Amino acid sequence: MKIAKLARKGIFNIISYIPGKSIEEVQDEFEAKRWTKLASNENLLGPSPKALIAIRKELPKINLYPEGACTVLRRALADKFAIPERMIVISNGADNVILMIANAFVNEGDEVLMADPTFSVYANVTQIMGGKPVKVKLKDFTHDLDAMLKKVNRKTKLVFICNPNNPTGTTISLEAFNYFISHLPGSAVVVLDEAYGDFVENAFYPAGLDYVKEGEQVIVLRTFSKVYGLAGLRIGYALGREDLVDCLYQVRDPFPVHRLAQVAAVAALEDEDHAVRSIQSVYQGKRYLYKELDRMGLSYVPSQANFILVDFEKDSEEVFRGFLREGIIIRPGKIWGYPTFARVTIGRMEDNRRFIRALKKIIK
Ligand SMILES: Cc1ncc(COP(=O)(O)O)c(C=O)c1O
Repeated sequence: MKIAKLARKGIFNIISYIPGKSIEEVQDEFEAKRWTKLASNENLLGPSPKALIAIRKELPKINLYPEGACTVLRRALADKFAIPERMIVISNGADNVILMIANAFVNEGDEVLMADPTFSVYANVTQIMGGKPVKVKLKDFTHDLDAMLKKVNRKTKLVFICNPNNPTGTTISLEAFNYFISHLPGSAVVVLDEAYGDFVENAFYPAGLDYVKEGEQVIVLRTFSKVYGLAGLRIGYALGREDLVDCLYQVRDPFPVHRLAQVAAVAALEDEDHAVRSIQSVYQGKRYLYKELDRMGLSYVPSQANFILVDFEKDSEEVFRGFLREGIIIRPGKIWGYPTFARVTIGRMEDNRRFIRALKKIIK
């Protein structure tokens, strides 16, 4: 028998997640002396020094299984957000939490609503479970919540809203979200992905935590990969009403978060200075990049995240290769239906300046 016939049907519909290129992947082909990765929206300031100390201290204990429930970290998050610990579930990256959500909620034939383009993992996990991703085009690079609401029906089980949206960096408005959620039937669960929530400057941003506290049918996703600079350790979490979070615990691995990640996350949370510095660095970099791009006459989507979607006005695959020759990795936009755009992570000022210097050379 063909093995393909034995596997879940949905898995062959998946367009595999294409991550940003890693330095290891490109360094053999392109011989840059120095590499700057601006492709995956990591924190270029690095991890908190306190997280590094915590990791070193924990290292001799890796012969022991980690603490399954992540009790210490969960308590720290519960304090930070002023919610009960039972409203928090932690796993090995928000990616894994997204899979857990699909595992827990999506039955064969269920519809899962999402924007187009948005973070591609939502569609993948839906298809794994035999659900149907229903994609609604962005309007002016932003979620079109009115159009999304029109697509809601009896089969709609989940609505993923990436806020700020990856790859556009845009946020939904408070008013539009309140209208959306008040018209959503009780048969649908909203997932607000706030992976980039710490970088939002917009005061009229619907913060997911408020909806969780009000008892709405909302799950909020957060990660230690961005502002906390721990992407390589893989740790993220969800906040939600206890009945929703209980469902996620039903499908959770016994030990999904290893020891080093748990202690590093606790230390990173305590290092408020590093988090604030990281956010300030993104704001400073954003202003600088806007100014330079304006000067060069290039347009971009104003961003509420730690990246900017820039229109290079030519095939961005070509621009991407031009940057690789300069030792810089960006993320070309063809996969999102924006062939002349690329997404660029906002780095430290030295990274941003390097990017602009290279851009001037490439465009010339
Ligand atoms: C919108 C969004 N959600 C979730 C994730 C995954 O985060 P994690 O690194 O915690 O798996 C990412 C990663 O880039 C993201 O962009």
